[in-house]
Parts: sequence; structure tokens; C-alpha cells
Amino acid sequence: MLLWQANSLIFAPMELQNDILLRVANGQTVERPPVWLMRQAGRILPEYRAVRASLSGFKELVETPALAAEVTIQPVDILGVDAAIIFSDILVIPEAMGLKYEMIEKKGPSFPETIQTEADVERLITDEDAASELTYVYDALALTKKQLAGRVPLIGFAGAPWTIFAYMIEGGGSKTFSKARRMLFREPALSHRLLEKITMTTIAYLKQKVAHGADLIQLFDSWAGILSPKLYNEFALPYLGKIATALHEEVPVTLFAKDAWHALEGLAEQPCNVIGLDWTQNPQIARQRVGDKVALQGNLDPCQLYAEPEQVAQAATEMLKAFGGQHIANLGHGVYPDTPLDGVRAFINAVQAFRY
Ligand code: CP3
Repeated sequence: MLLWQANSLIFAPMELQNDILLRVANGQTVERPPVWLMRQAGRILPEYRAVRASLSGFKELVETPALAAEVTIQPVDILGVDAAIIFSDILVIPEAMGLKYEMIEKKGPSFPETIQTEADVERLITDEDAASELTYVYDALALTKKQLAGRVPLIGFAGAPWTIFAYMIEGGGSKTFSKARRMLFREPALSHRLLEKITMTTIAYLKQKVAHGADLIQLFDSWAGILSPKLYNEFALPYLGKIATALHEEVPVTLFAKDAWHALEGLAEQPCNVIGLDWTQNPQIARQRVGDKVALQGNLDPCQLYAEPEQVAQAATEMLKAFGGQHIANLGHGVYPDTPLDGVRAFINAVQAFRY
């Protein structure tokens, strides 16, 4: 594994005890799929809620490396997943570029200032200047890496440029993201300029994450599914490709474009190792469409975990058979905060007991 030996220039060399995730991402054959859950470091765990309740809010947790490291490792200790994902948020990038975010309880993220004009785009801080604002993330990674002591790999992540763009224009979540889409039609050149700035900043940020211990990088294009195929190919895919190109020689890269059923072939053409699937995709058809160059990740419906544990285990096993190999078991999107832990455990145990 030359890739993480490169990291060991910064970190004391440490063999991973469980590297099954990286083996699959690097195209090796394994005895069973690795398993982790998107949003595993979060409200499903009472231990997370206890840490969170003692704080002023979500941002305090994100910005305090010792606490971020603690909640990152909780699912490894408590659930036994095969990877940790650093506790943070995709919205730290717009904040580092100059747009502060607030996380409003029971509502979600909100940006008091948004991007509307060319002057707004020009004013943004970018590249290393912006990435260097995020030392609390890099400190959290280094501390987590140390405390994991090689038990499992550590996943770093960022939002895809289109998803970050959507939050920067809208100022928060939206049913339609019509302001962000309107911008693509009315101001295509300015849209590209903003997407380019987000992309270059994200590359500088992810390189720092890798230098501080991330073993694999996942890009979340959470709002991919609201663009037509034509717009996705013009305003989203090329920027994902740029980021993947900048990183894939250092660590494996996972691309997850939620609800963009049309984008699979285009994603597989990028220099990436893994493609994430939401639960609307059929594993066998997805495999035919992407070929055998990449591993696939996903894609159980997160609501499946509300069923009885035996049913969860059965559904998980069916899914693993449908993928048949070159697969990282996960849900089709983040686990919902009120999911019963029995369901979560049944899923993880079923995957870890499975053999090809
Ligand atoms: O996956 C993990 O366990 C690591 C941590 C992680 C968080 N956010 C923590 C979080 C990751 C990978 C993210 C990514 C993220 N953040 C995405 C992409 C993934 C996706 O879900 O599509 C997006 C779109 C965001 C933006 C965001 N952050 C929203 C819309 C919200 C509010 C909705 C919600 O779930 O409450 C957040 C808050 C957030 N990020 C929480 C957590 C644990 C909940 C806040 C809390 O604990 O109070």
C-alpha cells in the first residue's frame, strides 16, 4: 500500500489492522465487503447526543478537534464499522471562502450572506488562502488518526462544487434550488467562475486533509439530482473530475452524486476508485453501466433499517448478493437520526458475517 506509506512521511508509519475498505477501493478481491454508514458520526448514537448536549451547538463540536475526534471514533468503538469518517461538515468550505454559516436547531444550515452578483464572486477568498483557515479540521484529522492507532482507515470528505454552489446561492436548503438553477441559465460564465473557485479551494483543502491523515476521500454531490443531464454534464461533472484528478494519485477517491441516475457513465470516466449509489439504482444495472474499473458503494434504503432486525439482515444479504463483489456496503444516503440502533447493528453484522 504505497499510498499510505506516502502519508507516513508526516505520520509515524502505522500499518492498518483493518484495511478491507482500502483493498476494495484499490481493486483487490476480498472475502466480504467492508461496511460503514454515511452520517454514522451523528445523532443515531446516544454517546454523540451526550457530547452534543454539553455544547453551545453543532459548530462548537465541528471546531473543537478533541471533540470532533471523539465523535468520529464512537461508531468504530460502538458499532464496529470498517472505517471512520471525520466529523465535520461540507459547509466549512463556503465559510472559509467568506460566507459564514449558522446551523439552526431542527431547521438546518443557513447563510446570512449569499452570492448574487459578480462582485460577490470576486470578493471570495480562495485556494490555499481559504483552505488555510480550516486548521481545526486538519487538527481533528491528525488527532483522530493518532487515537485510531491504525484500527480502521479514516475517510475525509468535501461537498462537490455544484452542491456547495447551490448552498452559496440559496443561503440554505431548498425544495427546488431554483435560485441556484436560475443562476446557471442566466449567468453561465459567472457560474463557471464561482464553480472554479470552489473547485480550487476544495482541492487545496482535500490535499491538506490527506496530508493530515485521510486515507480515502469522498465527494458528496447531494444535490446532483436536481440538474438535467445537460446541466450536470456542463456545471457539475467537469469539476468533480478536476478534484478527482488532483487527488487520485495520493488516495482513493469516491464520487457520490445522489439521484443523478443518468450520470453513472460520466462519473466512471473520471479518475476515481469508487462510485456511490443511492437506493433508487439497481446494483446489477449500475455495474453493467460503469464496467469493472471502479468499486460501487451503497445502497440500502436508509428506511430499511426501521424494519425488524431479521428483515434488515435479509435485505442486506440480498443487496450484497446483487452487487456480487467490488462493493463497499453502505446506505443509499445518510442514516436518519431516529433510526433504531438494533436496525443499524443488524445491517453491520449481516455484512460482516457475509462471505462471497
Ligand atoms: O458522515 C458522517 O458521519 C460525518 C459527518 C458529516 C456531517 N455532515 C455531520 C453533520 C458529513 C459527511 C456531513 C456532510 C453533509 N453536510 C452533507 C452531504 C451529505 C448528505 O447528507 O447529502 C450535506 C448536504 C451537509 C449539510 C448539512 N449539515 C445539513 C443539510 C445539515 C442539517 C440536516 C441534519 O441532518 O440535521 C447538517 C448538519 C449536520 N452535519 C449534522 C451532522 C451530524 C446534524 C447536526 C447536529 O448534530 O445538530
